[in-house]
Amino acid sequence: MTSEDLERVRQWLARAQAVTVLTGAGVSAESGIETFRGPGGVWEKVNPLELASPEGFRRDPRRVWDWYNARRRQLLGSRPNPGHYALAELEKRVPQFGLITQNVDRLHQAAGSRQVVELHGNIWEVRCTGCGRRDDRTGVELPEEPHCEVCGAWLRPNVVWFGEVLPADAWRQAEAWAQRAEVFLVVGTSAEVWPAAGLIYLASNAGAKVVEINPQNTSATKVADVALRGPSGEILPQIVSR
Ligand code: OAD
Repeated sequence: MTSEDLERVRQWLARAQAVTVLTGAGVSAESGIETFRGPGGVWEKVNPLELASPEGFRRDPRRVWDWYNARRRQLLGSRPNPGHYALAELEKRVPQFGLITQNVDRLHQAAGSRQVVELHGNIWEVRCTGCGRRDDRTGVELPEEPHCEVCGAWLRPNVVWFGEVLPADAWRQAEAWAQRAEVFLVVGTSAEVWPAAGLIYLASNAGAKVVEINPQNTSATKVADVALRGPSGEILPQIVSR
């Protein structure tokens, strides 16, 4: 990454009418939240099929809830980092802005972002496996075995698990934002998980300048017009600053 790359991206952002951002776990890394893939990542310590799949939940809902309750408790102590705040600031300057996140932590909203689509749901809401009722339980300590107050069935976290389809409205909005983008920022995602990763190709094919912000090369690097290598908490404030 050179200072010319940074300057080029600053110019693109300053001129663009439509900017779309896709974020992944890496944008929250500097808030103390571990990423999924790579050394020390979540999926090295726990098996996603046991803890993040409908089959795993049917087999042992208590075990899945133990893990999600621990993650909820951890998030209570987490705050947005300068990367989240820079994206909230960018939203104020760009006429047509959209932020698509794979994260379930709601730290973008905590930083002030408003135009947010949560592709993989979020960890603070619960959904009833019986009657389908959804409820926002932000910051609330849930019981060890959460059940629906209305119908008595197990509640589950309102997140998207492996093998499940994405929420239709969220996906429609994400596709529309990807297609209209003049600049498409890909921040802190390995771009390994589909269909989310497909949005990068959609944006690129529709003519967007694709900018990757990540300390590492990823599957998205080959589509990127510019790759800015480094932590998003450091790079994003630099490209959004006046
Ligand atoms: P991953 O864990 O797959 O990738 C995280 C990315 O963040 C990697 O490319 C890292 O290099 C990068 N990274 C690490 N620290 C960073 C930093 N400080 N700044 C910027 N980037 C950094 O996470 P996701 O791509 O979000 O899905 O994973 C996608 C989905 O896979 C998740 O939403 C989750 C997971 O399984 C579900 O649970 C459905």
